[in-house]
Amino acid sequence: MRVPSFLSVSSYCPRRGLPVAAALAMLLGVVRAGAASPPDAIDSGTVWFDRDGRPVNAHGGGMLFHDGTYYWYGEIKQGQTTLPDYNASWGGTRVPFVGVSCYSSTDLVHWKSEGNVLPVDPVVNDLRSDRVVERPKVVYNAKTGRFVMWVHIDSGDYKEAKTGVAVASSARGPFRYLGAIRPNAGVFPEDMPEPMRREFETARQDNLMEAWVQKHPEWRTWARDFSAGQMARDTGLFVDDDGTAYQFYASEENAVLHVSRLSADYLSHTGKYRRITFDSREAPTPFKWKGRYYLVTSGCTGWMPNSSRIHSADAIFGEWKNHGSFFAGDTGAASVSYLSQPAFVAALDNHRLLFMADRWNKDDLEDSRYVWLPVDGSSVIPCVEWRQVWAMRKLLSSSAPGGAASKLSAVTP
Ligand code: GAL
Repeated sequence: MRVPSFLSVSSYCPRRGLPVAAALAMLLGVVRAGAASPPDAIDSGTVWFDRDGRPVNAHGGGMLFHDGTYYWYGEIKQGQTTLPDYNASWGGTRVPFVGVSCYSSTDLVHWKSEGNVLPVDPVVNDLRSDRVVERPKVVYNAKTGRFVMWVHIDSGDYKEAKTGVAVASSARGPFRYLGAIRPNAGVFPEDMPEPMRREFETARQDNLMEAWVQKHPEWRTWARDFSAGQMARDTGLFVDDDGTAYQFYASEENAVLHVSRLSADYLSHTGKYRRITFDSREAPTPFKWKGRYYLVTSGCTGWMPNSSRIHSADAIFGEWKNHGSFFAGDTGAASVSYLSQPAFVAALDNHRLLFMADRWNKDDLEDSRYVWLPVDGSSVIPCVEWRQVWAMRKLLSSSAPGGAASKLSAVTP
């Protein structure tokens, strides 16, 4: 959200990006595909319509594949965009909360609206129209037969920083809202060594916390929130091959990303968590590829685009390494992710990966668009290359290069 972070990083992807001017031209609609797009074309940044002819309204979203159907969930951005005084310093424009949309499709091109599956509710504090309800992600729990949604819940000024959960017995909803929390209150993370935990406890008992955080400045915000629970803003969900679910979220004033293991029913946190990135990353989009765990993230520049990066680890609670730009090259338009911010990496039915991102319009959020690209899994580290128009049919009919992406983020193959 707020902390600018323009560290320059290299990329594993081979090509270089378009100049920024060309990317801006795309945003302004100056550059369009020359020939008429084929019926299964993905044309990023243009308005996409559902089967009823209405613009698809599913931002900051996620995808679930269940029983042969793809479900796309997202924020409904609707109504007038305003900049409340309390967000003026960082440009936090808003629309009233209306609900979470759900669309269904079997070809990822033609989308049927399944309606508003978590609507605004004036009697539920977290779901009032003045609240922030962002980045909904839905997973299916095979043990309980329930669909579980985790979502960023916040006050209009983003200071509450909570994560909320809702449950449904059908992928098409409606979802029943269960509440929101700041996770892991009073719990030490996996990356905190035992002697440090003891030192922290002693400092607390002796009222010497300020001295402790001066000694460990990178733990200051974590220590502040230790008793009441850690902040949880932008969120991503991942279900591993063994059915265990994990939530990734931007914590500690967005400076640090956390990953938390969820309970067997996916409805709560187990208390096992780790702090995994420390350079102000958000929009976490986890996936697994050829047995390795990956995470695509954005930097923290609010609605403004920045460089998307890819991180990996050999275990969810292992060491996460930043590999640099997720977009081919990291110059020009690639350095601002072709004017987009990651929302989700979806595993398709054929084990290919689809990168879903938002092209936000901060002055008219309802007019925000989508950027979708196939993930190149044949490169050393998965990456995306810019393509304005491409055929979804080809992606759906091709097989995964060099190995299958089994049981990936929020998808039950
Ligand atoms: C972004 C975040 C979005 C939204 C926005 C508000 O950084 O990823 O989901 O919260 O900030 O400015």
